[in-house]
Amino acid sequence: MSAFKHNSESHITITELMLPSHSNFSGKIHGGYILSLMDQVAFACAAKYSGYYAVTASVDKVDFLQPIEVGELVTLSAAVNFVGRSSMVIGIRVEAENIKTGDKKHCNSSFFTMVAKNDDGKTVAVPGLILETDNDVRRFVRSAHRQQQGKARRGQFKPESFKVEEHLDFLKSYNVQVLIND
Ligand SMILES: CC(C)(COP(=O)(O)OP(=O)(O)OC[C@H]1O[C@@H](n2cnc3c(N)ncnc32)[C@H](O)[C@@H]1OP(=O)(O)O)[C@@H](O)C(=O)NCCC(=O)NCCS
Repeated sequence: MSAFKHNSESHITITELMLPSHSNFSGKIHGGYILSLMDQVAFACAAKYSGYYAVTASVDKVDFLQPIEVGELVTLSAAVNFVGRSSMVIGIRVEAENIKTGDKKHCNSSFFTMVAKNDDGKTVAVPGLILETDNDVRRFVRSAHRQQQGKARRGQFKPESFKVEEHLDFLKSYNVQVLIND
């Protein structure tokens, strides 16, 4: 396997028709169904790029920007944005198209971190990423920053170091009552 690869070698697009069985009580498509499709496309993208099966390590925040209707065609596009040793951040964009009018809307974008594993279930090194455009560099740097912020966040609010009294003033502006019986 080559030591470096172009992200174009990872590009995956899937298109699916939204069926009534995918809808919720208000007739819109279930967010959970879209998340499942996003996980599938992230897996396919990571496996195609790395040549290994991959597991989902984490999912970045997903904002559902617009509802998706039954009968619309949903297209998910995925590409590798960032690689570590064994991890790959897959950027995913979801668009829905009205079949009759051809109108397209951006429904959400997110980032899935996938980790490549070998047949023994051990994490395995993936090819480095060749950055060819300003956008490639922007996406890589964005993921690297997000990864650092995630690590810093995970270190916060540990139960062993959290002191309630230091946060009581902060809570005053929230819709909450603190009634702790010691
Ligand atoms: C994700 C997982 C592979 C990490 O394994 P680990 O033994 O902690 O491995 P490491 O600490 O060596 O980390 C391996 C890579 O995963 C990354 N990673 C680990 N936890 C992560 C997290 N929560 N978010 C993002 N990346 C993560 C590490 O940064 C590292 O990246 P790198 O190799 O590019 O530097 C392991 O926790 C796992 O298998 N989780 C279950 C995954 C799964 O089943 N997903 C489907 C859910 S139903």
